[in-house]
Amino acid sequence: MKSIKDFNVEGKRVLVRCDFNVPIDENGAILDDFRIKKTLPTITYLIDHNAKIILMSHLGEPEGKADPILKLDKVKERLEALLKKEVIKTDDCIGQKVENTISTLNPGQMILLENVRFHKGETENDPEFAKQLSQLGDLYINDAFGDCHRAHASMVGLPQFLPSGAGLLLQSEIENLNKVLQNPKKPMVAIIGGIKVGTKAKFIENISQLADAVLVSGLIKKELLNKHYNIIYNVIIGPEDHLDALDIDQATIEIFKEKIMAAKTVVWNGPLGKFEDEKYNNGTLQIAKAIVESGAFCVAGGGETIEFLNKEGMLDQFSHVSTGGGAMLDYLSGEKLPGINALG
Ligand code: 3PG
Repeated sequence: MKSIKDFNVEGKRVLVRCDFNVPIDENGAILDDFRIKKTLPTITYLIDHNAKIILMSHLGEPEGKADPILKLDKVKERLEALLKKEVIKTDDCIGQKVENTISTLNPGQMILLENVRFHKGETENDPEFAKQLSQLGDLYINDAFGDCHRAHASMVGLPQFLPSGAGLLLQSEIENLNKVLQNPKKPMVAIIGGIKVGTKAKFIENISQLADAVLVSGLIKKELLNKHYNIIYNVIIGPEDHLDALDIDQATIEIFKEKIMAAKTVVWNGPLGKFEDEKYNNGTLQIAKAIVESGAFCVAGGGETIEFLNKEGMLDQFSHVSTGGGAMLDYLSGEKLPGINALG
């Protein structure tokens, strides 16, 4: 797989697929810009190397139709505020008008295309749609780790038409997640909470083969006991009883802390209680603090985990915080992600 740094980007039109699929409120206001901030190194690299930058992303699930709430205007404004630089925004992501706007770009300038999912060709991975997108650039850079588990046109179709490589965020995600999957420093501890238990089954199966201990919330333990999974059950540790409680109890916290303090690698996905209610955030907070204190190489990910760490001002204290939700879980399940495979 090539890196953005393997290309001479000067004066070239570089199409960058980002994952600006950020949480928004009912008016479309951005609730959290973590994913936007994490794309800045790639964008800044391209500005510094005088590329003509064309950014594209999806937002939400508009199902092939334009939806005013899911337009990328708020993303454009946030990018401009973060970069202190003008971002030109187009009303569509393909077509003659878009091509005309791109032809006016000077090196170092940037354009943000409208939501690629306003066309059904995106999620249907229509080669014709991918070809139309490819006409906008000379090079394709994938920096959308969060969307790499989707075999969509702007992820897997585009690299068939253009020289392609990974952006700095995608590279950093792969390097850091590989430190968990390939020869992790031992002991390794995985911590799994959250509410979407079913979506984590494969991840728990894979990580239970690699980790020395898998620490789980009551809800996850209940699910693991009720259904049969292909996991190494003797590494699973969770609350003894009250599995439906909205937070883990102090005895469980102490057992978890002991395992975490001895760990050299920690991977964490999902809060351990109903953290949005202050009455039930104690377990999650104590565990987060123990992870940081342990000095272990620590990786966290998932929407709610990021929300929690952001709220507590702890994002910077982790070795790596993944921008991927489903993509991180699939990657740590040992799966080959289509978006990464497509880069060769
Ligand atoms: C995500 O938020 O996990 C990615 O941006 C993918 O979005 P999707 O689940 O709507 O495909």
